[in-house]
Amino acid sequence: MKLAARVSQVTPSLTLAIAAKAKALKADGIDVCSFSAGEPDFDTPAHIKAAAAKALDEGKTKYGPAAGEPKLREAIAHKLKTDNGLNYKSENVIVTNGGKHSLYNLMVALIDPGDEVIIPAPYWLSYPEMVTLVGGVPVIVHTDATTGYKITPEQLRKTITPKTKLFVLNSPSNPTGMVYTPEEIKALAQVVVDADIFVVSDEIYEKILYDGAEHISIGSLGQEIFDRTLISNGFAKAYSMTGWRLGYLAGPAEIIKAASTIQGHSTSNVCTFAQYGAIAALQDSQDCVESMRQAFAKRRQVMLDRLNAIPGLSTAKPDGAFYLFPDISKTGLKSLEFCDALLEKHQVAVIPGIAFGADDNIRLSYATDMTTIEKGMDRLEKFVRRHSPS
Ligand SMILES: Cc1ncc(COP(=O)(O)O)c(C=O)c1O
Repeated sequence: MKLAARVSQVTPSLTLAIAAKAKALKADGIDVCSFSAGEPDFDTPAHIKAAAAKALDEGKTKYGPAAGEPKLREAIAHKLKTDNGLNYKSENVIVTNGGKHSLYNLMVALIDPGDEVIIPAPYWLSYPEMVTLVGGVPVIVHTDATTGYKITPEQLRKTITPKTKLFVLNSPSNPTGMVYTPEEIKALAQVVVDADIFVVSDEIYEKILYDGAEHISIGSLGQEIFDRTLISNGFAKAYSMTGWRLGYLAGPAEIIKAASTIQGHSTSNVCTFAQYGAIAALQDSQDCVESMRQAFAKRRQVMLDRLNAIPGLSTAKPDGAFYLFPDISKTGLKSLEFCDALLEKHQVAVIPGIAFGADDNIRLSYATDMTTIEKGMDRLEKFVRRHSPS
């Protein structure tokens, strides 16, 4: 069979593959400690489920507007104003099948073949693939622990060419958990405005912050940057709604309208009754978000302390999301062989950094229970001690 050429240019998602492998081993009765999944282990809060169930009972089972239920678009615009200082109306918002789909819609709407999209590495693995799928050119800018795995304004400025259309910013970051400070965001915004390019700010982890870290939305820093900003966000991480497939894209009305047209011919509206769950998530108490955040904070500390006690690993302390990103270079192993051996020999699933453009690192998610964290860290320690030069 001759598949389209673009298929050979994309790589299947390694995170999904490893999470699936870990699940399959578990289903076979093998005691696997999995730190692979990028999803909270909590169930969706009851009041959100109840709102969706009520909508289902009330017959909200039909096609809806492609851009989303008007009430939800309004609720999102309100949230963006009050939480993030972004002056959007409903027409600036489209509801999508997850944050992933909001980014994909954006790429289809904005990127022409040959357009360059700047992506700092370590990056969330779907960014470059999405750019490639629409014929764009992902331009990867490597960062390391010396800048906290963050792109500097100088790096960004140097990378921009006449072909640059878009810069992808993700704070708090998957996979590093790093959070850009307000000053750092301000400096990056200035570069975006000076170069007259667009920035998409992926804010899906904005609510998962520690030690007083502050999330600032780049588009809130003035009219010039606001006009060049797209916001991608969703309900998966903050409200533990990964399976619901609910996200959104906000930005200039013309781009949102284009995304809506594209969505109208590809997926149509997001599941109608699920959108009522999202309305409840935004409009009801936010206590559930805070209690999950507190649980993540405790787990982060335990996992970080355990990792820091393992000679041969070096782990930066992140201020957000639910990932740790140890440097494994002292073990002499590259990330794929490290992860394969760890899963095969010690039944611990983690993600190789190469999936995120960083082959000297591995990613561990601590969105899992404390017993698994303790047991998994025991196994990891044994494995690394065996590989570390004494
Ligand atoms: C940085 C980042 N952006 C976007 C997403 C997409 O989330 P979803 O499509 O589940 O809303 C994820 C999920 O892992 C992510 O880590």
